[in-house]
Amino acid sequence: MTSSMNDEPWTILKLILWSAEYLRGKGVDSGRLDAEHLLAHVVGVGRLQLYLDFERPLDRTELDGFRPLLRRRAAREPLQYILGRQPFRTLNLEVGPAVLIPRPETELLVGEILSWVESSGRSAPTALEVGAGSGAICLSLADEGYFTHITAIEVSEAALEVAGRNRESAGGSGIVDLRLGSLFDPVDEGDRFDVVVSNPPYVAEVDEASLAPEVRDWEPGTALFAGPDGLDVIRCLVDEAPRYLKEGGLLALEVGADQPRTVAGLMRDTGRYSDIRIVRDHANRERFVLAHGV
Ligand SMILES: C[S@@+](CC[C@H](N)C(=O)[O-])C[C@H]1O[C@@H](n2cnc3c(N)ncnc32)[C@H](O)[C@@H]1O
Repeated sequence: MTSSMNDEPWTILKLILWSAEYLRGKGVDSGRLDAEHLLAHVVGVGRLQLYLDFERPLDRTELDGFRPLLRRRAAREPLQYILGRQPFRTLNLEVGPAVLIPRPETELLVGEILSWVESSGRSAPTALEVGAGSGAICLSLADEGYFTHITAIEVSEAALEVAGRNRESAGGSGIVDLRLGSLFDPVDEGDRFDVVVSNPPYVAEVDEASLAPEVRDWEPGTALFAGPDGLDVIRCLVDEAPRYLKEGGLLALEVGADQPRTVAGLMRDTGRYSDIRIVRDHANRERFVLAHGV
C-alpha cells in the first residue's frame, strides 16, 4: 500500500475505492463512507465536495496526511476519535478516547427533557446530570432549554477536561457547573433539582466480548461497564435520585435495550416515583425510563 500510494497518481475516486476495500477487509462495514470522511478531513472540504472533484490527483502532502488516518481506522479506532468531533443536536462536540462518543439515541433523551420542561411551566428550572462525559446532555440542555443552572458530575478527570473545553466552545459557562466526583457526592447539601438526568454506564461485564471492537477496545470502560448485570450505577441512581429532586421533578435515564422494564421495576419498588414510563428510540427499542419524584 505504502509504495503504490507513493508511486502511482492517486485521484480522489481511486483512493476512496481502494481505501473502502481496504477498510472492508479489516471488518469496517462503513468502509467507503469512512474513507470519504477521512479524505474530506485531510483535504479540508465537506465530504460531498469530493464528489465534484473525483478525478483530481492528490498531492504528496494530502496522501501523507491521509495514510496514518486510514491505518488508525483499519485498527478499528472509531471515526469520531480520528476526526476529533461528533455533532450532537445543536452542538459540534470535541471527542477523544477519554469520553464516550455521544449517540444519536441520547439526542432523544434531551428532547424528552426539553419537552417536559416546556410543558411543566416550571420557572427558572435547574438540572443535575450524573456522568457528563463529553458534556453532550448538559450542554445541549443549556443551549436549547430554559435552564438557569445545571450541575454536571463526572467521575473521570480526563472526561471532565473534555467537557470543560466543550463548555467553552458551546458558550455554556454561565449555566453549566462541571464537578469531579462520583454519583451524587459533589452535590451541595440541600440542593434540589427540577430534572435529574443520566446516561450511565450500563453494559454487563459478561457482555464485553460481544461489543464491537470500536467500543470494546477504544471507548472508556468507566463509561461502559457497571457490574455483573450492568445495573450497578443505575441502582444507585434510582435509590438516591429522589433526595435530589424537587417535588414532581423528573428523573430521566437512558438504559440498555434489555433493561427498561427492570429499571421501571426498581423505581416502582422504591415507592418514591410516580408516572413511571418507558420511551422508545428511533429504532423502536425501549431505551429510556422517565419518572417523577413524589
Ligand atoms: C455512557 S457515558 C455518558 C456520557 C454522556 N453523558 C453522553 O450521554 O454521551 C457515562 C459517563 O458516566 C461516567 N461515570 C461512570 N461512573 C460514574 C460515577 N459513579 N459517577 C459519575 N460519573 C460516572 C463515565 O465516566 C462516563 O463519562
